[in-house]
Amino acid sequence: MSETCLEGCAAKTQTVGFIPGVILFICFVAAIGAALGIVLTADKYYPSQSISSINTFTSTYVPSTSRNIISTSSVSRYITAAMITTPATTMKSGWSNTGSMNSTRYVHTASILANGKILVTGGQNFFEGVLNSAELYDSSSRIWTSTGSMISRRLFHAASLLSNGKVLVTGGRDSPNSFNSTELYDPSTGVWIRTSNMIYARSSHTASVLTNGRVLVAGGYNNSNSLSTAELYDPSTGIWTLTGNMNYARYVHTATVLTNGKVLIVGGYIYNNINSLSTTELYDSSTGVWTVTGNMNYARSSHTASVLANGKVLVVGGAGINGNSLSTAELYDPSTGIWTLTGNMNYVRSSHTASVLTNGKVLVSGGYVNGIRINSAELYDPSTGVWTVAASMKYVRNDHTASVLANGQVLIAGGLNGTDVLETTELYTP
Ligand SMILES: *[C@@H]1O[C@H](CO)[C@@H](O)[C@H](O)[C@H]1NC(C)=O
Ligand SMILES: *[C@@H]1O[C@H](CO)[C@@H](O)[C@H](O)[C@H]1NC(C)=O
Ligand SMILES: *[C@@H]1O[C@H](CO)[C@@H](O)[C@H](O)[C@H]1NC(C)=O
Ligand SMILES: *[C@@H]1O[C@H](CO)[C@@H](O)[C@H](O)[C@H]1NC(C)=O
Repeated sequence: MSETCLEGCAAKTQTVGFIPGVILFICFVAAIGAALGIVLTADKYYPSQSISSINTFTSTYVPSTSRNIISTSSVSRYITAAMITTPATTMKSGWSNTGSMNSTRYVHTASILANGKILVTGGQNFFEGVLNSAELYDSSSRIWTSTGSMISRRLFHAASLLSNGKVLVTGGRDSPNSFNSTELYDPSTGVWIRTSNMIYARSSHTASVLTNGRVLVAGGYNNSNSLSTAELYDPSTGIWTLTGNMNYARYVHTATVLTNGKVLIVGGYIYNNINSLSTTELYDSSTGVWTVTGNMNYARSSHTASVLANGKVLVVGGAGINGNSLSTAELYDPSTGIWTLTGNMNYVRSSHTASVLTNGKVLVSGGYVNGIRINSAELYDPSTGVWTVAASMKYVRNDHTASVLANGQVLIAGGLNGTDVLETTELYTP
């Protein structure tokens, strides 16, 4: 009921006489919440934002995801239900709980290691602030365990799985600064070591592992502006070198490695502007040059971008003009450089996740819309271009992570539910 309301509160309140009191009440609360959210987040894109509940932030801009943190709330910690031990193959389709992380966290990263475990790093919560802790999920036992902590506390950082099996974590921010430091996680020892600093400090950037094994870091935010700079990390030397600048400075964008090896950068924000970008550009790793490609039909940031089996890129939702969340989705065709609208989602959302399932469909989960977090999930079928509503997640969340496990299940971890940061994790069985 409340989901229907999230989408259509305004319409519903006009038909007050026809809906049961309980729905009316939910709508009323949601409408107040939405109004409050708008008020509280009116300055969310501007440098004057202060998130008093997180004393590690001061008066600097915090991108998309930290909007609408209302006040410090006591973080309720609890031991979750016993671990589920049913084999994945016998689990019925839909969502199931799968234990909890030790720390609540959102705006963290999740990487799938070569051994199949999921490494979660950093992020923040209201209780510990910005985190340096890291945790591992074992998909066979379905248990979370702590692993070595990062040297630096980080949120709005990026994590990249290198071909040598190590994970490179880059930049991010603690209070109040973005930084240039990077570190490497060795799954065989569970230990983090520093590697060279990036040339530029950045957070809310992207990091893409190129087909030649190097890591391309692009854009981001440096405490005073959005960045157009890009640099490359060579895992064999541990050295960063500058490569061409993007045509547009941006942060909270996405980067997608195409099947032809080029990197597609999409949307994002330019500093101090509530409106997202519709521009997109391609990086050619053989020349180090960026080329502008087609504009999207809708400007977006805090969207998702997924490579489909046919090589096209599906871009979904996000925050558009005036920060309003979108239900639109569009496809990029690398052979023509053109964006084409595809079916609209059933729900408007930004700061959600998108996962390409082994059956080729794309699962979208959770997200944020006008001050409210949602638990709805839906599936995109690339053969028809149509979205179908799937079972809802057990928990409302945005700025969570989603990882497709080797067995085809999707692991959702953490996130923000509006009042609290979550340690809960859940599995989607297709
Ligand atoms: C779990 O998190 C708490 C802080 O919330 C920390 O003090 C404790 O050491 C952590 N436990 C493990 C096993 O990492
Ligand atoms: C990285 O940041 C540190 C600390 O702000 C600074 O001293 C250093 O010059 C920066 N750049 C590099 C390449 O280390
Ligand atoms: C941030 O980036 C802008 C644009 O490149 C640059 O002018 C500014 O000096 C940088 N600020 C910091 C604090 O590094
Ligand atoms: C957020 O999570 C907390 C702790 O789990 C819970 O008490 C609260 O009801 C949740 N809020 C929403 C909006 O789901």
